[in-house]
Amino acid sequence: MKRGAMRLFIVLASLSLTGIVVIQIFWIIRAFDLKEKQFNQSITIALKNVAEKILMYNNNPNTTLVNPVQQVSSNYYIVMVNDVIDAYALELYLKTELEHRGILVDFEYGIYDKRNDKMVYGNYVGKDDTYISKYNSRSILPALTRNNYYFGVFFPTKSEYMFWQLDVWIFSSLVLLIVVIFFAYTFFVILKQKRLSEVQTDFINNMTHEFKTPISTIAISSEVLMREDIIAQPQKIYNYARIIHSENARLKNQVERVLQIASLDEANPQLHKTIIDINELLKKVIENMKINLQQKSTQILLSLKEKALEISADSVHLTNIFYNLIDNALKYSPEQSTILIKTKEHKKGAIISIQDNGIGISKEDKKHIFDKFFRVSTGNVHNIKGFGLGLYYVKIMVEAHKGTIDLETEINEGTTFNIWLPYE
Ligand SMILES: Nc1ncnc2c1ncn2[C@@H]1O[C@H](COP(=O)(O)OP(=O)(O)O)[C@@H](O)[C@H]1O
Ligand SMILES: [Mg+2]
Repeated sequence: MKRGAMRLFIVLASLSLTGIVVIQIFWIIRAFDLKEKQFNQSITIALKNVAEKILMYNNNPNTTLVNPVQQVSSNYYIVMVNDVIDAYALELYLKTELEHRGILVDFEYGIYDKRNDKMVYGNYVGKDDTYISKYNSRSILPALTRNNYYFGVFFPTKSEYMFWQLDVWIFSSLVLLIVVIFFAYTFFVILKQKRLSEVQTDFINNMTHEFKTPISTIAISSEVLMREDIIAQPQKIYNYARIIHSENARLKNQVERVLQIASLDEANPQLHKTIIDINELLKKVIENMKINLQQKSTQILLSLKEKALEISADSVHLTNIFYNLIDNALKYSPEQSTILIKTKEHKKGAIISIQDNGIGISKEDKKHIFDKFFRVSTGNVHNIKGFGLGLYYVKIMVEAHKGTIDLETEINEGTTFNIWLPYE
């Protein structure tokens, strides 16, 4: 799939998923509101019936009740009765009325004492006794001053009850959640796989590119050697044979380098430590790179700690680390630039920093810079040779020495790699 198509696909899929989630939330809120309205209505009717039954019980059927039920708060109702209220009758009627309507919810009631202006006799009726202590009945029901007899009913578990009434919605939300998680995970895997395959394709392209030159040189040279007139010119035979030999050696070198690093044992690289003066080692590496540096007229500035900076390390790997970093600084900078190399002491160890003013690395690429086979894929990478194994190797080896490596970089400004290696 093309890069753009992939991105579009992901954006659309995320948008539609977000849409579904928003709609789900909207409907849950709607359903909750509806259920609550239904609940309030049923309760109002049930309580009105209770009030009427109490009047019947008192043999006072002539009193008419106009809107006796008042909802004081979301889960507290009071019911005007205009007559004395018998607590046992009230509890019985409340229970039967609610049960009759299929409302199986805990409640607590209290009866208002007009003379003393306070709530008396409350009781908690429900399946779960723990609420009795939790809500401490009698004290919770507030007395509202009314010039009338009334009783109050409180539903402490109303919201939970309402919540469980939404069982279908809860179930479908759970399903939706699982779907969303599953999708997110799938995207993650797809993107990761895509990256991997891109990196692999890049690597194969680089490799072919790097091998093409020596292979075609060898092909041409051997063709010359097959010509009949060449027999008479031993000097030429020698020259072409030498070209074949050295190109072959280069090929072999490259293959070995790739094989060696590709099979590098991340978990436990072998080190042969000796005492090394970092300053001396750096000078030696730079000396060996003289020809490469001259080709691009690149200058190296050294700002080394005056005294010897000795640490215990593997000299071969340390040489390779420096070689790789200086090689990168050289490769990814324009001609005639300057590379600044500094060493100093820091926290029982040495800091080596290698600074260039080259093309720099973007934030996104910086995250992957130490990955195996990773090369920045924008720009003219193929003009600059490499396998994307250098920094991978550097990181493994620095960490094998129990050191740290980080980089500061700004696109088009340059890059600085800082390595810290402990003395021991
Ligand atoms: N000093 C630097 N300046 C800019 N980009 C760099 C620098 N060093 C490394 N990079 C980027 O990091 C990638 C990985 O580096 P490396 O592992 O050494 O692989 P290679 O040099 O073989 O490409 C390079 O391809 C390059 O894009
Ligand atoms: Mg490199």
